[in-house]
Parts: sequence; structure tokens; C-alpha cells
Amino acid sequence: MLSYQHSYHAGNHADALKHVILGDIAAGMFNKDAPVFMLDAFASRGIYDLNAPEAQKNSEFETGIGKLWPLRHGPCPVGIKRWFALIAAENSDGSFTRLPGSTALLHAMAREADRLAACDLHPQEFDGLRMAFQASRRFSLLKRDAFEALKALLPPKEKRGLIFLDPSYEVKEEYRLIAKAVAEAHRRFATGVYVIWYPLLPAERHLDLFKELKRSGIRKILRVELDCADSFPDMQMHGSGMLIVNPPWHAEQAMQASLEWISEKLTDGKGHKHFGWLVPE
Ligand SMILES: C[S@@+](CC[C@H](N)C(=O)[O-])C[C@H]1O[C@@H](n2cnc3c(N)ncnc32)[C@H](O)[C@@H]1O
Repeated sequence: MLSYQHSYHAGNHADALKHVILGDIAAGMFNKDAPVFMLDAFASRGIYDLNAPEAQKNSEFETGIGKLWPLRHGPCPVGIKRWFALIAAENSDGSFTRLPGSTALLHAMAREADRLAACDLHPQEFDGLRMAFQASRRFSLLKRDAFEALKALLPPKEKRGLIFLDPSYEVKEEYRLIAKAVAEAHRRFATGVYVIWYPLLPAERHLDLFKELKRSGIRKILRVELDCADSFPDMQMHGSGMLIVNPPWHAEQAMQASLEWISEKLTDGKGHKHFGWLVPE
């Protein structure tokens, strides 16, 4: 399959929420000194060029970072400030063309003792990853199936892990497959922090993901979601969310503040947000 390319969607409303919340979670884990292993299982190319024809085709970034970037000098929560600073660092010439994706954000935030692995199976996306980053002992670039990587790389030797699952959901079974893969990984590594992104689409298949995860018996699953249907009525993907298994306690307040701010600024208060337990402790 693998026809999806994230460059067409880079920086849209879902990316804004996803990248800020991911940063809040990583920062929450970094509150303790012990090293963390991070797995960006569906990495894409790491850094997106907003001037590229793919990004310009539908200019989806105008529903996300394009709307928020002009607010970067105003008051905003800590997670948003961090995100703006990381984007600014990628554009040190003062332009605004290079948008860091999940791998670039985690790579920039990683501390000396942390380890990061990024996987993508798509040949072009993987080449992008290789061009953007230099692999090292602490940073592995893997042209490898994400589901296989979960089996092979968990549990990590650090005993602390942030596992980011951001599939393209090209096939409808993927919602159930992701839940099953998390349930299986959780059996071997129950203390890992699993972050699962999902889109809100008219078919509402994210409900399959919810159902399957609830059935798995995993506890402590936080749901952070923003529905922007009233703001972007022409977009098929009218919102997005993240399920976070074992959310770091230190990140909860930050995530809530980020969600509030993004909802207010992206949807002028018309967004429907959700912040609460899908499954409590
Ligand atoms: C939504 S994009 C990831 C975006 C990225 N996480 C970000 O936030 O910048 C999903 C990526 O997963 C890759 N992918 C899809 N199925 C995969 C699989 N089974 N194993 C590894 N990569 C896969 C696709 O090629 C695509 O680049």
C-alpha cells in the first residue's frame, strides 16, 4: 500500500495539536533524569518543506501552523512556546519554510543519555529521514515495518519509553491493528508511555480503536481531542485526537493548557475539545 505522503498535510490543524501534545509528553518524561527510549514508529520524513509543491497543493498548513505562527510573540502556554522555539530553530535564517515533524521535534528535545529510533517503510519518506538526520549510536533510522519494530525494540533497556504511533490509517483495519499492537507491546512493557494519534473522519473509525483498546484491559488511557468541524467545513478530516497510555503526571496540566489555547486560536472558540480518561486508572 504505502501511497500516503505526509508532506501534503504537513502543518495542518491535526499536526499542530499532535506536535504540541507530543512535546508536552516528552517534556513531562524529561522531568526525571533517568534516560528515555523514544520510538517514532511512523516517522515520515522528519522535516517538511512548506514551499514544496506537495505542501502547496492544498495549503493545509493554513488550518494549523499558518494560523498560529503569527501569534508566536504573544502570551501562550509553555508547550506552545516550546513548539514555536523548535520551529524557529529550524528556520534560523528567519524564513518560515521548514516545519519539524515528530522525529525532528523528539530529536531536538532528546537529552544526552536518551535514545531515539525512527521508522518509515516508504522509500521516499525514508530517504527524507536519511537526508535530514545523521544516524548515531543514540539515533537509529530504520526502514522497517512499525509493527515489527514494536516487537523487536520493546521493552527497552532504559525501562522508560515513549512510543509514538502515528499511522496513516490507509486501510480501515489499521485502527484495530494499532490497538492490538499496543495491547501486545503493553503486555511486555506495561510502564511504557504509548501515544496513539487518530483522525476524526466522517466514517468515525476511531471508535474501533477506542473499543479495541477498552477491551484490551489496559488502564490509564487519556484522550485529548479537538473537533474543528465548524471552522474547516470543507475538510474531510474535521479534527483529531491522541490517546495516551500512562500519561506522565507532569504533562497533564501542560497538555490541557495547550489544548485550550490551540482550540481557542485555531477555531475561535468554536472547536469541541475533549480532555479526559478513555479508561481511568
Ligand atoms: C502520518 S505519517 C507520520 C507523520 C509524522 N509522525 C509526523 O508527525 O511528522 C505516517 C507515516 O507512516 C508511514 N508508514 C505507514 N505504514 C507503515 C508501517 N507499517 N511501518 C512503517 N512506516 C509506515 C508512512 O509512510 C508515513 O510516512
